[in-house]
Amino acid sequence: MQAPVVVRFGNVVVDERRREVSRGGAVVPVQPKVLDVLLYLLRHRDRVVTRDEIFDAVWSDVVVGPASLSRAIREVRKALGDDGRNMVKTVPGHGFRFVAPADDLPVAVSPTAAPAGGRGALYGRARELASLARSLEEATRGRLVARFVCGEPGVGRTHLLEEFGAMATRSGARVLHGRVRHGDAGAPLSAWRDVAEGLGVSLDTDPADGSSGAIRCARARGLVAAVRAASSGGAVAILLDDADRADASSWRVLEDLLDGPPLARVVVVVTLRASARNAPEVLRAAGRALRADPEAVLELSTVDTDALAQIARERLGRPPSVAAVRKLTRLSGGHPLYARHLVAAAIRSGTALESLDVAPAVRTSSLRALVLSHLTEVHPDDRRILDAAGVLGIPFSAHLVAEVASVTPSEAMDSLQASLERGLLESGPGGFFDFVHEIVREVVFDVLTPSVRARLHRRAARALDRPLPDGGAPVDRVVRHYVEGAADGDAERALDVVCGAARSAARAAAFDVASGHLADALRVEALLPPDAARRRALHLELGMSLAKDGRIEEATVSFMKAAPPPTPAAVITGQAAFFSMAPDLPQVVKRFYALLFERHPHVKRLFVRSDPKVQRRMFGETLSALVEHATDDAWLDGHLAGLAGRHREYGVTLEMYDWVRAALLDALDEAAARAGRPSSAHETLGPLYDALARKMRSAEPAPGVSLPRLTPEAPCAHRPASGR
Ligand code: HEM
Repeated sequence: MQAPVVVRFGNVVVDERRREVSRGGAVVPVQPKVLDVLLYLLRHRDRVVTRDEIFDAVWSDVVVGPASLSRAIREVRKALGDDGRNMVKTVPGHGFRFVAPADDLPVAVSPTAAPAGGRGALYGRARELASLARSLEEATRGRLVARFVCGEPGVGRTHLLEEFGAMATRSGARVLHGRVRHGDAGAPLSAWRDVAEGLGVSLDTDPADGSSGAIRCARARGLVAAVRAASSGGAVAILLDDADRADASSWRVLEDLLDGPPLARVVVVVTLRASARNAPEVLRAAGRALRADPEAVLELSTVDTDALAQIARERLGRPPSVAAVRKLTRLSGGHPLYARHLVAAAIRSGTALESLDVAPAVRTSSLRALVLSHLTEVHPDDRRILDAAGVLGIPFSAHLVAEVASVTPSEAMDSLQASLERGLLESGPGGFFDFVHEIVREVVFDVLTPSVRARLHRRAARALDRPLPDGGAPVDRVVRHYVEGAADGDAERALDVVCGAARSAARAAAFDVASGHLADALRVEALLPPDAARRRALHLELGMSLAKDGRIEEATVSFMKAAPPPTPAAVITGQAAFFSMAPDLPQVVKRFYALLFERHPHVKRLFVRSDPKVQRRMFGETLSALVEHATDDAWLDGHLAGLAGRHREYGVTLEMYDWVRAALLDALDEAAARAGRPSSAHETLGPLYDALARKMRSAEPAPGVSLPRLTPEAPCAHRPASGR
């Protein structure tokens, strides 16, 4: 690997590690590709470099025209203040050469005006940064600490986080980043994906693991253990950005980490929108952290006049006048990102900051309105690409965005270039592009009409619906686009995909995720021609999933919608109560048999055919299937006749149904008490058991018919012909 370029010439310093150009001590904003061109010229300043060489080095991933290079060279000269072309020379017929006398600086001591990050330096956050520095010190001393950075979009949460990350790296800590992108909002463990990858831990749930318990919880526990283990080699800083979009399981991992022993060299810094601060999962996690440390929550508000003056100075390359700072303070309201945009707007339009003004609407509603006013200047062709990118909500390649926007890749590339130049997008590693700030994406997305949004989602779903790894995407991302795009068409496929995702989430015991998918499935189903049976089956499946997730009241509502009238209310309550303890079922069944044999020892003699483990599994699965179909009389009659007939053959007598009832309900109550839930199995499940036992007791097998055993199936209501 080549050493990073850190070069000084005249009053300019170019620092490849920080990806920064500074002039006279102030950071000059430079587009990533422009910087790449400059770095290439500097690296090879002993000779002329050809245009083709630069294309290969900088745009190897995409095809761009000669205009892009000319534009980049123009930008390079502008950034360096090279008006007279004394630094970058055009060599006609050959290419370009960097000719100014320049010194390579030792990497460790290169002076730059500003610390890491392409956003410029961080001003006005000394107090917050000091607090984060203290948390890092504590972590280094062997404590596990957490900080929650709350603030409105654009106030500089990510900037502060990046600055802290750079500080932690400098101090020798291992820094792991996680960020929840809009396109991955709510996906299981989304906040921890990148962190897990950094630690070499897999979070993927393997459907082949079957229903052997809370697989995902086990993976999450593995992650928590891996974080702790990593800290035995030195301090670990975990930075979770935009955590307000994280799903419940991501928050549970954080809680698990905070609940564990306080001895670990770990600092976790979480950023979230101020408006998300009162969400229950945030309050729980932050509450834990606050108990250990009164500094745990940092509120980021606007910055002071001094910080605004520094921002202006950095962008202008000279100290701003008092009037300019006053103007900036009034217009930006102390909002650092807004202030940066205002200064950039002044520079772009050649207006003195003192006489800069913005439309009254922009002034009142600030940053979003400013972005909106920028967007109105964007050419409609370029806007199409931005719209597609806004719907994708993740870093994207030119090919992907072209497919979603229905344009050719080279048209997309031209538009992307234009948006890069306008400062709306930035390009990152691997040829991916992203919005410069989430606010820009939000504004682009928010102004789309519902029908355009649905159309783009549908196209995104199709573009991403391919097998991994060649261009496919994680299932949750594909599902979301299908669901949001279903109003535009493909509703059948959307239902297949979302049901498939619900099934695999349920198999991995991720019932919160499965419930979310099933609620979406019902929304999509409503777009199809009415089919009452299919809808009831979906409600039933949602009920089971919600109950298994412990949301009994919501589950009862779903079971009610699934039940054909007139179904006794007791049966519906029983279904919700039963499935709410389904994750504990294996232990409950074990305890049930123990109680039964303890109270009625002679019954044990009847159990001779199967291994106890197999018997327990068959009983549990059959019971679940019976409760699932408790409102389906025809199904029950068909299946219970066989079961009852076999029980008579086993030597089961009628009074034994009461013994089983008592042992089973007591075992359920014990499990509820252990989990801190009300022990009410006799009230909630008694009537349901009685209804089933009544049928079994009175069932007569058809003469001479050998009755099949029950084979409970995965309970997806809508079985797609081809799943993902
Ligand atoms: C709702 C009530 C019940 C359900 C759902 C149920 C379910 C099952 C299932 C699924 C099997 C596996 C074999 C097969 O499918 O035929 C089984 C076997 C058996 N059950 Fe039940 N059962 C119930 C009530 C009872 C009662 C009241 C007794 C009395 C003690 C009992 C005693 C047995 C015995 C002795 C076997 C055979 C085990 C062996 O030979 O290893 N069951 N039951």
